[in-house]
Amino acid sequence: MSALNLSTVVAVIGAGAMGAGIAQVAAQAGHPVKLHDTRPGAAAQAIDGIDRQLGKLVEKGKLSAEARAATVARLQPADAIEALADAGLVIEAIVENLDVKRGLLRQLEALCSAECIFASNTSSLSITSLAAGLAHPERVIGMHFFNPAPLMALVEIVSGLATPRALADSLYATARAWGKQPVHTASTPGFIVNRVARPFYAESLRLLQEGAADCATLDALLRDAGGFRMGAFELTDLIGHDVNYAVTCSVFAAYYGDFRFQPSLIQKELVDAGRLGRKSGHGFYNYAEGAERPQPVELSSNASVDSCVVEGDLGVVEALIPRLQAAGVQVVRRDGSGLLRVGDAVLALSDGRLASQRAQDDGVRNLVLIDLALDYSKASRLAITCAADTSDGARDQAVALLQRAGLKVSQLADLPGLAVLRTVAMLANEGADAVLQGVGSAADIDLAMRAGVNYPQGPLAWADTIGLPGVLRTLEHLQASYGESRYRPSLLLRRLVAEGRHFHD
Ligand code: NAI
Repeated sequence: MSALNLSTVVAVIGAGAMGAGIAQVAAQAGHPVKLHDTRPGAAAQAIDGIDRQLGKLVEKGKLSAEARAATVARLQPADAIEALADAGLVIEAIVENLDVKRGLLRQLEALCSAECIFASNTSSLSITSLAAGLAHPERVIGMHFFNPAPLMALVEIVSGLATPRALADSLYATARAWGKQPVHTASTPGFIVNRVARPFYAESLRLLQEGAADCATLDALLRDAGGFRMGAFELTDLIGHDVNYAVTCSVFAAYYGDFRFQPSLIQKELVDAGRLGRKSGHGFYNYAEGAERPQPVELSSNASVDSCVVEGDLGVVEALIPRLQAAGVQVVRRDGSGLLRVGDAVLALSDGRLASQRAQDDGVRNLVLIDLALDYSKASRLAITCAADTSDGARDQAVALLQRAGLKVSQLADLPGLAVLRTVAMLANEGADAVLQGVGSAADIDLAMRAGVNYPQGPLAWADTIGLPGVLRTLEHLQASYGESRYRPSLLLRRLVAEGRHFHD
């Protein structure tokens, strides 16, 4: 299916943060663009703002002066909505209110040609219900850009119940032609990104609530071991707790209270207190001038460690071994079930059980569980947790070994799945359910999470790397530990494990 012809007039309605960005994208791609807003002067102001933004790109040598002038010449403010009558594609980015958006679509249907496509940039409203009541609901589709639209690559192309595949394909091709990375998704609450990302926030909030560690330590683990650009606390401080909490509440309500999406009381406390994050000067962290930024808590060990024993295959943790060898640690190999022994300590990748429970179940003394890292050959920090009977001496030996590999070590309280492992397992689980329910393909879900929220790896590809049986086991253990449906494994994950397959075969 081909992209819309460049002669197609694109009308953007709503000249706020999103509308202005979308208008810029369409004009830079070569379309004549009309920008309309009910606030008098808002469209013209937004076009001036775009001109200034493009001017900065010219100064930096990233855009030619001619391209800037041509783009701005294609942008036209439209004071009256009637001026949009010749549009072939309307993208609305007005206030997030179902009734107001429906009213606008009805007005447009009376105004525009029968072929005109109506796209909505809504983050949270159903495309199906936006289209309902129109004479031609099949012309309505979601085109969900991310903020700031000129910079963020992802566009979710959202199909409602009435949207024909040909229209979704055409707007997919159009978004591509505009230099974006589109994905197809069905109109379900949160679409792909705002649904699959929920556990990223939820698991850190839960770990904090249950006393696993402080914010700075948990954030550092998600960054330095997980490879995420930011931890959940610094990220929600940036997004704004009012916004992030509202999205969680709306997804939770939309899924009829499914505990997978349960909002966090500690985030609600912040909202209630007006501690909205950076914008209010205080969230999980204090942004007042001169306020000290708390540092992650780390263990240090003076134990002397020169050798270790690897029993069996350590799976993803194997990438740690060359680091140890490069640091002069002698590594002895023998058969076994994926354990790493140093002195009295026995190290193993978490499988979602409490350390104390696993120690008891498996009859292992001095057990030290380690967390998942995106890449053990590059991580700079790793979480550990110890069983109740693990001696301080054994823990020190484990820490010393990890330090020899150049890792900073942060200890968490004994909670199942540590920090990165349970976050990634839950992200993959949510992605799996989204695939199962036809919300998106595995490839599109991974792409959406990389391009939309900058994840270092798509959660489904990441689960493939860890090994799906290990991810399934982790979730089963989390579910058993908490006794909550929140951690129930997706049927698709279970099916793929039973079939010996992967998300990306
Ligand atoms: P905004 O508040 O910055 O801008 C909305 C603009 O729409 C305002 O200029 C307002 O005057 C205008 N407006 C309101 N009702 C109108 C009407 N009936 N006709 C014409 N203009 C009208 O809002 P923002 O952040 O740009 O969001 C717009 C839409 O984009 C919402 O649907 C939102 O959910 C969605 N969105 C927002 C994202 C964000 O990060 N801000 C990200 C992705 C989607």
